[in-house]
Amino acid sequence: MTSILIKGGHVIDPETGMDGLFDIVVENGTIKKVEKPKGKRKSAKGKGKSPQPELIDASGRIVTPGLIDMHVHLREPGHEYKETVETGCLAAAHGGFTTICCMPNTDPVNDNQSVTDYILKKAGMAGTVRVRPVGAISRGLCGEGLADFGELKAAGVVALSDDGNPVMNAQLMRRALEYSKGFDLLVIAHCEDRDLTADGVMNEGTTATRLGLPGIPNAGETVMVARDIGLCELTDSPLHIAHVSAEGSVQLIRDAKARGLPITAETAPHYFSLTEGAVMDYNTNAKVHPPLRTAKDTDAIRLAIADGTIDVIASDHAPHTSIEKDVEFDQAANGLIGLETSLSLSLQLVEKGLIDLNTLVAKMSINPARILNLTHVGLKPGNPADLTIIDPEKKFTIDVNTFRSKSRNTPFNGWNLKGKAVLTMVGGKIVFQED
Ligand code: DOR
Repeated sequence: MTSILIKGGHVIDPETGMDGLFDIVVENGTIKKVEKPKGKRKSAKGKGKSPQPELIDASGRIVTPGLIDMHVHLREPGHEYKETVETGCLAAAHGGFTTICCMPNTDPVNDNQSVTDYILKKAGMAGTVRVRPVGAISRGLCGEGLADFGELKAAGVVALSDDGNPVMNAQLMRRALEYSKGFDLLVIAHCEDRDLTADGVMNEGTTATRLGLPGIPNAGETVMVARDIGLCELTDSPLHIAHVSAEGSVQLIRDAKARGLPITAETAPHYFSLTEGAVMDYNTNAKVHPPLRTAKDTDAIRLAIADGTIDVIASDHAPHTSIEKDVEFDQAANGLIGLETSLSLSLQLVEKGLIDLNTLVAKMSINPARILNLTHVGLKPGNPADLTIIDPEKKFTIDVNTFRSKSRNTPFNGWNLKGKAVLTMVGGKIVFQED
């Protein structure tokens, strides 16, 4: 029997309501006990008792349920030069995540059982964090016909999305919402009106004009959020809005929630940490879809995180290499990596007093679990020992050269931050530990 004692940490678990000093006993990969610290343990020497547990000193640290990132691009199959399931999982563990959901825009697209099987097999071989694939809404992400949701559900997907592409056809989206309900699968909407975003490459406004780049208006997102809220109302089917970036979207989601619609929403750290100014020197690492917006939008996103309009913080980890990024701005791929910076950037919201730690932990673990119907989450006896230990005081500088991800496309390189994951445990196994 393997036994681990995580001692003296400040346990924050919004699932059980625990917020205080507790010891956690892990046995054979499962949480055995969560109890008030008992002081110094007596040695079992000479008593002929079971061997002493492995001790993890968590004093001065925060212990949370394993963090869950519900929006990640792993690039395998098809674009293994950007990221593989294995390297993505290592990056996740390094960033404090125990479970990640991977989007279906791979090559081939994850719109069928064999691709889902393949990803799950690779994740099993990697043996680090848990991978929960998201299946495609439309076959080949082409927006023309629905994928086989029953087949995808049986293969193990936890949600459906055409992320990267909008479902432009409203009738198809309606059918997706109706059909997914029968399989208890959440639809995750990438809200973008392609007729409005057209050939835009950054946020529309004076910065785009100054840089001579075609812009993307906020309406490129809000029009689609409004449509999908309408379809959610029509079908009464749960809908999750991905990567919210615009003030108008926040207002629509807040209003839809107030009317009792089954809507949830997520944003990513770059939408509350950066504005469109980040692309000022044509920095392609800050080129992302939806684009970075204005300070008015980032303020609205922060407020929406604080008041609960936005339920989840997800990284939208989107690896690209220098082949796709070290090119003219309008030619560069959209997206930035986030698995290894997401927690630390999000902790800034706590540092600035916008939310408390409990709220942050909820948005990065318990809320995604509830939204996706993931079970056995939280630091409860009997649950798998999936947990994250955070050092809230650790000051460090983001250095891409320390990343486990294969890609380097982050606009946050060189940022000085405080607070990071120092240990990640999945099913009782330590998959990352800070030196
Ligand atoms: O910037 C983005 N990159 N937005 C998306 O929706 C997709 C993602 C990717 O796959 O690279």
